[in-house]
Amino acid sequence: MPLPTARRRADAGIPEPRREAPMPIDRLTDDEIGILLTAAVHAPSMHNTQPWRFEVHGPVVDVLLDEERTLQFEDVSGRATHVGLGAAVFNIRVAAAMLGHETRIATHPDPARPEIKARVYLDRREAPVPDLSSLYGEVSQRHTYRGPLLDHPIHLTVRRELDEAACTEGTELHWLEPASVSGLEVLLRQTDAEDLYDEERRQERETWIGGDRSDEGIAERALGPQPVRQSFVRDLSAGFDSPNRSQAVYETAPAIVVLSTPDEDEDAWVRAGQAVQRVLLVATSYKLAASFLDQLLERPAPRSQVRGVIGGRWPQMVLRIGYPAQSNGHTGRRDWRDSFDRWF
Ligand SMILES: Cc1cc2nc3c(=O)[nH]c(=O)nc-3n(C[C@H](O)[C@H](O)[C@H](O)COP(=O)(O)O)c2cc1C
Repeated sequence: MPLPTARRRADAGIPEPRREAPMPIDRLTDDEIGILLTAAVHAPSMHNTQPWRFEVHGPVVDVLLDEERTLQFEDVSGRATHVGLGAAVFNIRVAAAMLGHETRIATHPDPARPEIKARVYLDRREAPVPDLSSLYGEVSQRHTYRGPLLDHPIHLTVRRELDEAACTEGTELHWLEPASVSGLEVLLRQTDAEDLYDEERRQERETWIGGDRSDEGIAERALGPQPVRQSFVRDLSAGFDSPNRSQAVYETAPAIVVLSTPDEDEDAWVRAGQAVQRVLLVATSYKLAASFLDQLLERPAPRSQVRGVIGGRWPQMVLRIGYPAQSNGHTGRRDWRDSFDRWF
């Protein structure tokens, strides 16, 4: 027998079940803070710089920019850094939902402290908040995957779910047609070549990438194999030695998506970060893997070309997405307590 929908209930004169308004809470417990911030630091960030700090006061978690962990040459505008902070905010929302808290977000809540990029308000609710809490298990499962993809299409219903994930967060996903993908491939080669000869950018990458790292940056094991031929993947160690990597042939026609916002400012970047993370967690729940092609967005000229491809909206992330053909090693994280500044 079908469940009575709100419409049927109203038609039959059955009163709506009472939905309790979320009750405010005074403070978060130590355990709750640990769970929220452990989830937060699992977020992706460019070169795994983990550019965040957290402050908790009462039932509120503030997500702050750590100026010491920005990329001076490769992220001149700060867009990528804010996207990483937005991803951390989304993970806090997911963990809060799992704990039974509803959340509200304010970006740049305190004009006197512009380094606070987002404030997460938590309200009490008795049961896990559906929808978001169902993504909690994916937070620790999601990793950037830089290896080859299987030649296996992504089913339309899964694509739609990814579209919806982006849309729910106020952004849009654009699945590029093959003609646009080959156009971007040319752009990718150009931006890769520019990167190779830009000494400041190369040195910045070398600070964070390669070798055997444990709690920040990208260790060689997480770089994935070196492409045998030019491929639709970013080789982050191009220009310096990464001697122990295997080689692989990559897929020829990966699915490429661009995530966009209607406007372009710091708030839009934080929103984009939440959307990227929602898309990635939903993708992970379908065993899909993704890697980032951010070199297309790091300089104004290629970014405006990508913008042209998606009809003038602001591209905030380019992802290569599909089913992984192998696995690659993972990046590590600093303990959340290292970026937890103050108690009020
Ligand atoms: C804004 C942003 C840009 C990124 N750009 C790239 C990129 O161009 N190439 C790449 O391989 N990974 C890129 N990444 C992925 C990070 O390197 C990755 O998130 C980080 O190393 C942590 O690893 P994890 O995602 O496996 O947890 C980017 C991540 C973010 C948030």
